[in-house]
Amino acid sequence: MSELAIFGGQPIVTGTWPKWPVAGKRERELLEEVLSGDMWGGTGLGPKITALNEKFAKYCDTNYGAAVANGTVSMELGLKAWNIGPGDEVIIPAATFIATATAPHHVGATVVYADIDPKTCNLDPSKLEEAITDKTRAIIPVHIGGHPCDMDPLMEIAKKHNIKVLEDAAQAHGAKYKGRKVGSLGDAASFSFQQSKNMQSGEGGIIISNDKELIDLIHYSLGKFGRGIREKYSGHIHYRFGWNACYTELQAALSLAQLERLEEQTEKRAVNAKQLYRLLDGIDGIEPLVWQPYCDRHGHHLFNIRFNSDAFDGVKRAQFLAALNKEGVIGSSFYPMPLYNQPLYEADKKLSMRKTECPESEKACHEIIFLEQNLLLADEGMIERIGDAFRKIRSHASELHKIDVTEEDFMGSAVLKKAKETAAK
Ligand SMILES: Cc1ncc(COP(=O)(O)O)c(C=O)c1O
Repeated sequence: MSELAIFGGQPIVTGTWPKWPVAGKRERELLEEVLSGDMWGGTGLGPKITALNEKFAKYCDTNYGAAVANGTVSMELGLKAWNIGPGDEVIIPAATFIATATAPHHVGATVVYADIDPKTCNLDPSKLEEAITDKTRAIIPVHIGGHPCDMDPLMEIAKKHNIKVLEDAAQAHGAKYKGRKVGSLGDAASFSFQQSKNMQSGEGGIIISNDKELIDLIHYSLGKFGRGIREKYSGHIHYRFGWNACYTELQAALSLAQLERLEEQTEKRAVNAKQLYRLLDGIDGIEPLVWQPYCDRHGHHLFNIRFNSDAFDGVKRAQFLAALNKEGVIGSSFYPMPLYNQPLYEADKKLSMRKTECPESEKACHEIIFLEQNLLLADEGMIERIGDAFRKIRSHASELHKIDVTEEDFMGSAVLKKAKETAAK
């Protein structure tokens, strides 16, 4: 019988991975404070949200923050606050989560897809000039998986053309670029507090910036039905066309507690990731996306690896993932296609979109696999098992060809997989 777990052998990992999300005394304490008071929502202006706005902005080396319902609407509000809308163009990477496109589409802008740097899977600054026109108003670089985008050259180009930069840092809490925190590098930055993220409250998001006017506009007005700003904030006078993007005190209790854990967790993920790079080094066909010289700390929301099928004896990515999962190491495949190929553009012809040539995005969507952040919170012994599992599968590569799986089977995060199981019931 084969030694591979997928064919009945003993799996490499027999223990369990750290549970995600982590909840403890502190989450319960802060939740209890909210529950015993009379403000669970508070129209997004309560004491817990106020504390979170200040603390998270400060954590990211910025001055102001506005927590909102999620990390998609936070980007939408940022674009709206800059008065970006129909006729304007917003450049985003072609390989990212759909939310990066959803936000500019919701304000009616044209989404322009640009290619990524194969070393990081982040927007490639050298591909920007060809995407820029006289209609370009904003760029949304994404720090995908937690690796910072190369922001200095990007900001230089943006400044030259007078274009706003909104960092999509949904996956990059705590990451650092050349000594500076992600979130402090553009004109504004958006983070997500959704369930799978490294800091989370089930759902939620925040926009941060050093621009007080921008944050006040979002915090008091655009995210609160267009009410007036500061002393003009009141119930039923609406100065602008706004949203209900309120975050709640209950959610802020959770994210404040999660923020207290973030530094230690991010450090642990970084140490474990470095160990994992060593363990995976030299395995043919397994090419982790390593820290670039400008990355001082990776957020490691994802541990991204390029799976090179040719160098892995022609084994398909899905076959490898099937074997890996059975060995007890949970891995998934990257976004299935560049966003410009998503069926939504066939379904909704009103959406305005343009693409540049994106060969690296096409390639990444076929090749990248990832391990989720909670694996990197495990102890050293478990991290070694990940290396063992990869090596074991590599040494039995020829057996993997007979695994009958589709790409679909290994797509998406653990959160999405759980949701899929529930939906099927
Ligand atoms: C890259 C990226 N941008 C934006 C978002 C949107 O965040 P949210 O789910 O809080 O709307 C997510 C995650 O969900 C993401 O991964």
